[in-house]
Amino acid sequence: MKNSKPQASKIQTLLLRWFRANARDLPWRRNRTPYAVWVSEIMLQQTQVATVIDYFNRFMKRFPTVEKLARAKQDSVLKLWEGLGYYSRGRNLHKAAKIIVADYGGKLPDTLEELQKIPGIGRYSAGAIASIAFNRPAPILDGNVIRVLCRIFRLKGNPKETATKNKLWQLADMLVHTKHPGDFNEAMMELGALVCTPSNPSCSSCPLNKVCAAFKHNEQDSLPVRQKKTRLPHYTIVVGIVYKDNKILIDKRRQNALLGGLWEFPGGKKRKDESFKTAVAREVKEETGITIEVGKRLCIVKHTYSHFKITLHAYVCEYKNGAAKPLACDAVKWITPKNLKKYPFPGANVKIIRQLMNAV
Ligand code: ADE
Repeated sequence: MKNSKPQASKIQTLLLRWFRANARDLPWRRNRTPYAVWVSEIMLQQTQVATVIDYFNRFMKRFPTVEKLARAKQDSVLKLWEGLGYYSRGRNLHKAAKIIVADYGGKLPDTLEELQKIPGIGRYSAGAIASIAFNRPAPILDGNVIRVLCRIFRLKGNPKETATKNKLWQLADMLVHTKHPGDFNEAMMELGALVCTPSNPSCSSCPLNKVCAAFKHNEQDSLPVRQKKTRLPHYTIVVGIVYKDNKILIDKRRQNALLGGLWEFPGGKKRKDESFKTAVAREVKEETGITIEVGKRLCIVKHTYSHFKITLHAYVCEYKNGAAKPLACDAVKWITPKNLKKYPFPGANVKIIRQLMNAV
């Protein structure tokens, strides 16, 4: 890395030229208001561009301004986030919109420091918004940029470790173009997404192949060094679809829990020493206080979340006794099957709802 500085301007020139000719036409690139940049960057955290496009378009149509978002109900925001994952992003975006309207006159702050005070905006998103929306020479580092930098500079450290992470931030900071920081940052991400891909990178057509140390040593396939994948834990979950006078009981998950703020059918982890039906009755009672009769199993659903996998057994149940109360959740509600589509549910519950609608 001795000659990083002179190499920097070469990298900038090659990359910006390539980006201007190859940038994808993405909805958030059409009208780069700070609000649109912010929404898109939050959605793009941990999520692929192809997945984000439709979510972004629906979100901007429904909430075209920060004021509209600030006035929305959390349920409406999470409904538009349904299936996108990492729901704390949606909750924080909504919370942040209220703060921006109340404390910042409806305008996103334009410095790295102020941006990082907003819920949900960390070092990466602050850099992305500051550079793309406000043309500030701030660096960014996401998975794509990490891969590109590790290869160009032939970094052999593990990017998950602090020392390597710090070095990567330094490189990103050193490289960012002072006049066109937003384009430069997007170009790095675009190169990572389209050319410098995790496997089978297209080195022969890469604009940086002449300055890439990994390519020179034919090490592009082994950099960045990979972490051993840890197996996701697996849980067996039971839920009750509890009917009372043609209404179904749903409950709202606690705000700070995983999938917080989303609605679900009451249920929980099955214990090793109990039957499925006993587990359903126990979980529904613990969560909502009611007594039920557990009937037939409707379906078994498998689902993978970011940090664990579940196999979910859903049982159709009959209400027997007691008033439903939010004992281990934020709220409970009896709703008609038709209204299920109005509430935001986690992915596995969406699968159950689909089965339920097919069954009637
Ligand atoms: N990933 C994160 N931000 C992005 C952007 N602005 N364009 C494309 N991919 C991205």
